[in-house]
Amino acid sequence: MSGAPLDVARIRADFPILHQEVRGRPLVYLDSAATTQKPQAVIDALVRYYTHDNANVHRGVHALSERATLAYEGARERVRRFINARETKEIIFVRGCTEAINLVAYTFGRSKVGPGDEVLITAMEHHSDIVPWQMLCQQVGATLKVVPVDERGDLRLDQLDVLLTERTRLLAVTHVSNALGTVNPVRDIIRRAHARGVPVLVDGAQAPAHFRVDVQALDCDFYALSGHKMFGPTGIGVLYGKAAVLESMPPWQGGGDMILSVTMEKTVYNRLPYRLEAGTPDISGAIGLAAAMDYIDSVGLDAISAHDQALLEYGARALESVPGLRLMSQARERSGVLSFIMEDVHAHDVGTILDREGVAIRAGHHCAQPLLSCFGVAATVRASLAMYNTREDIDALVRGLHKVREVFA
Ligand code: ALA
Repeated sequence: MSGAPLDVARIRADFPILHQEVRGRPLVYLDSAATTQKPQAVIDALVRYYTHDNANVHRGVHALSERATLAYEGARERVRRFINARETKEIIFVRGCTEAINLVAYTFGRSKVGPGDEVLITAMEHHSDIVPWQMLCQQVGATLKVVPVDERGDLRLDQLDVLLTERTRLLAVTHVSNALGTVNPVRDIIRRAHARGVPVLVDGAQAPAHFRVDVQALDCDFYALSGHKMFGPTGIGVLYGKAAVLESMPPWQGGGDMILSVTMEKTVYNRLPYRLEAGTPDISGAIGLAAAMDYIDSVGLDAISAHDQALLEYGARALESVPGLRLMSQARERSGVLSFIMEDVHAHDVGTILDREGVAIRAGHHCAQPLLSCFGVAATVRASLAMYNTREDIDALVRGLHKVREVFA
């Protein structure tokens, strides 16, 4: 299907949850930045695994354990291929982006960042890419520095070379802002950071459901993924790290599978990627994530991106018809998100009225309070898109917003 326009009706048929009524209205799901819905292929992969293959991995000599291990390690190879990593040992399964970033903050951070050093982040990070760095800086006596945003919601990259100093030990930046949809020019940012010898972590939570991610082309040192934001299950995600960087990091959690041998005096740690995966992993989650990647590739990311951009443009124009609505997503390059406020109406009231119409959006600070405060607002309404959304979904949103206006007239 790649290259051809998206057959959205066919895609919608693959997502059973979309075919229901909510509060007596057909469900209009516009909250995919919070979590995406799952295609039948992902649901089937989970059921198949638990019905036929469930066993622990890397441990058993019996047939089920061999099958589970093959499927789990096959999922790792699937992820490697999906993001074009060099080697499977660069793929660490974690719970999601939050755990991936915390892992880096605890291991890389606590071994490479010391008193007087600096960690550079941006004003548009999700709390999960702020708080772990704050905790690190407080603990080791380092300073957290922040690349500001401009009034359109783009990063002030003119500040980047000033903020990158000889004390910067890491730059962490989101690929796509979950609150505004801004797509950051991470390739250029990484190039500029590397020119100063600074490694870069990219928070990729909002990217791979919308466009192709190639970690070798980006040349990032770390890339974090959340399975549930890319049509996979909750509770599974990926930390990609360049092999040499991961090798240089101490282990994080201790437990089974991350060891080669243990005595009461000393533990010899396992090799990558197992050294960073203590305990029984989320085996079914990894298998479900691989199925989600198969599904995305079967649809084709080029077609998905084109659909996303066309729907964003349509949505931005359609929202202009709502009196007193201000679209906050104005960045040069955007993906997946229409974030806005309505004059004299609190975002939560908008959300409640839309819910009565069967329209699911998110209202609030979107776990990005510092970003919203840059714009002088405490909350926005966020409609977020995925490959299964249609113009009719946008029309239903706009109809709902006109009702909000009537209620608050
Ligand atoms: N990070 C998720 C969102 O943006 C939960 O809604």
